Amino acid sequence: MSVAIRAARVEDVDDMRTLINEYARDDRMLERSRDFLLEHVRDFLVAEDERGFLGCCALAVLTPDLAEIRSLAVQPETAGRGIGRALVRACVAEARRLGLRRVFALTLVPDFFQKCGFVITSLGRLPEKSASECPVCPKRFACDEHAMLLHLDGTIPEPLSAGEPVGYTRLFLGVEPR
Ligand SMILES: CC(C)(COP(=O)(O)OP(=O)(O)OC[C@H]1O[C@@H](n2cnc3c(N)ncnc32)[C@H](O)[C@@H]1OP(=O)(O)O)[C@@H](O)C(=O)NCCC(=O)NCCS
Repeated sequence: MSVAIRAARVEDVDDMRTLINEYARDDRMLERSRDFLLEHVRDFLVAEDERGFLGCCALAVLTPDLAEIRSLAVQPETAGRGIGRALVRACVAEARRLGLRRVFALTLVPDFFQKCGFVITSLGRLPEKSASECPVCPKRFACDEHAMLLHLDGTIPEPLSAGEPVGYTRLFLGVEPR
């Protein structure tokens, strides 16, 4: 079966919502409403094969320099076939096309993003995200996500210092995520 990555269409929104919210129920990613997905459908790519929808991923541009990979989800029965990496690669290619310099993801699966070439960093080094969106995120009191960063010019982001807090809750609220 050959896997294709393409821009999402409105007819994909229900598949995207079902998959994302299945993982959200297990607290593995943020829930997304149908209205949100429709409004942001132009940010999304989907993976499909001859049998249909396999996964999705969004690239959200935050500043002229920085974009975020969001809502990456692959159907559990097709995990491990390289579909997640193909979606991330396509988002990175789109970020390059747009002229961005950095791409990051907030994630509970840092090892997966490391395999995609990202380097672990701290949310404290991404104020474009932590100052604007994190303070109103429903998970701000329970955030222990890792920030993973890729520089598109090939330079390596500065490594995390020993003991440096990674998630929003510890970093900005000074408490343990609950
Ligand atoms: C994480 C996820 C997107 C990975 O998709 P996938 O299609 O299974 O991943 P791939 O097959 O492309 O894997 C690429 C590499 O990452 C590794 N990898 C995949 N998932 C991993 C995980 N959870 N932890 C560590 N490594 C992982 C693979 O072993 C592979 O390594 P290799 O290059 O040595 O073979 C998928 O499991 C998923 O949808 N998870 C639930 C939702 C989620 O956590 N999304 C991320 C939100 S930011």
